[in-house]
Amino acid sequence: MADFSQIALETTPDIPIYRQLADRIRSLVDSGLIQSGEKLPATRELAGLLRVNRTTVSAAYAVLEQSGILEGHVGRGTFIAKVGKTERPLIQSTDWEKILPALENAAPAPGKIAISFASSRPAERSFPLAQFRRLTKEVIDSPEASQILQLGSSHGYPPLRRYLLEQATSAGIARPTDDLIITNGCQQALDLLARLFFSENRTGNNGVALEDPVYHGLIRVFSRAGANALSIPVDAAGLDPALLEETLQQYRPRLLVVTPSFQNPTGATLPPDRRQRIVELAQRYSVVLVENDIYSELRYQGPHLPTLKQLDESGNAILLRSYSKVSFPGLRVGWVIAPQPVIARLAEAKQLSDLHSDQLSQAVLLRFAESGELEHHLARTRSAGAELLACVLESCAGFLPPGSRFTRPTGGMSLWVELPAPLLADSLLRRARERGVDFLPGRYFSARRPHARGFRLSFGGLTPAEIARGLEILGEAARAELASFANAAPLEPVAALV
Ligand SMILES: Cc1ncc(COP(=O)(O)O)c(C=O)c1O
Repeated sequence: MADFSQIALETTPDIPIYRQLADRIRSLVDSGLIQSGEKLPATRELAGLLRVNRTTVSAAYAVLEQSGILEGHVGRGTFIAKVGKTERPLIQSTDWEKILPALENAAPAPGKIAISFASSRPAERSFPLAQFRRLTKEVIDSPEASQILQLGSSHGYPPLRRYLLEQATSAGIARPTDDLIITNGCQQALDLLARLFFSENRTGNNGVALEDPVYHGLIRVFSRAGANALSIPVDAAGLDPALLEETLQQYRPRLLVVTPSFQNPTGATLPPDRRQRIVELAQRYSVVLVENDIYSELRYQGPHLPTLKQLDESGNAILLRSYSKVSFPGLRVGWVIAPQPVIARLAEAKQLSDLHSDQLSQAVLLRFAESGELEHHLARTRSAGAELLACVLESCAGFLPPGSRFTRPTGGMSLWVELPAPLLADSLLRRARERGVDFLPGRYFSARRPHARGFRLSFGGLTPAEIARGLEILGEAARAELASFANAAPLEPVAALV
């Protein structure tokens, strides 16, 4: 009988202890020191002998059982299998954490959340379901149905593509030298662009100039593509052109990505003079301008402003749009309008990625737009959005601790709060979650700057009552946090409003 207490295990981070134990037992079998049919110590007993956790021994036995080396008999114990020596290799249970890269900035699982300011999305209670069902049925019953169900073009469902291009042309946004591709939302457009301009084009400068703070999904696609994020601070009127010019001069990035209207996360909108200036700077420094125009239709007050693409006389700007914020994000339909060579390359990249976007979604959204239902829905969304915005501004003023600053958007779904020192967004979030309220802290939106006191409040999916209650709870959480600072210094208002 082998002396199991002699089994030597190492504390090495490379091989987990249960695997080492399985390997040692297997060697004992292979060298004949334990014979087939012999009984192994009970898991508790072996765990005691080796001073390891009982679950470690169970895991080792499980691996050996899977490999046919051990046999477990309920109530009798674990035995060396009758086959004796085995030629079969140990079945490796895959260590996924080791193989796969770590999740970047993975959100900790929130507790029981009753009111979430964490997601920038429309309220599903406002989806016009009756119209959606009727229009979907019309599409399914139409003569085009079999065409829609067949494989299609990487550029998108042709009737929707034609419709969007005509609309953009008559609005003075698309030029004769432009083309259009449908993507799975704006997110895929960003991903394809990042691959095109960076991963597949690694030579030379790999800088991408980004607003800071900026939408986290944007930072991640560019960093994964190997781009070097250059941060341009955003203030209450959006991206600062003077700071942009410094960065363009110094680093000559390849791409500049701007969200001119109701920027995520700040809600800031670029005024006309800044728009003009940014377009001129992009031309002067030969940087490709990508305009992420996903929120501009959600304007609740003030005049409509021209897109950067309209202002860009060079014709080089790339415009991204999406149906996600104005209708149904679950259908995943967005599009890109850009010079023809860029669209041709995007179509090639899209073909490699997913062949093309789902045609039923595209056909239904086309029906939704052409029937006028989209316009009705937008009108209702804007008036509901105006009410939510008024409520969130009033609640911020009423409940956030003195010294807090927050942006005052005129549309969109989000605003940005800066807490006064010594409060930090992450500590506030911990307390807020204990009370059932969630939001995204500033670090999620960091291109480079930390934003430790900043956080985003997304209000598009909530009711006015939830917004008011949520902010009341945030206010209480902030007071509790302040009380925990032993010799709390007087609150200092933050210097810059972003
Ligand atoms: C600024 C910005 N860009 C892109 C996206 C992704 O949008 P889509 O649903 O169209 O993929 C979002 C979604 O929140 C966003 O806020």
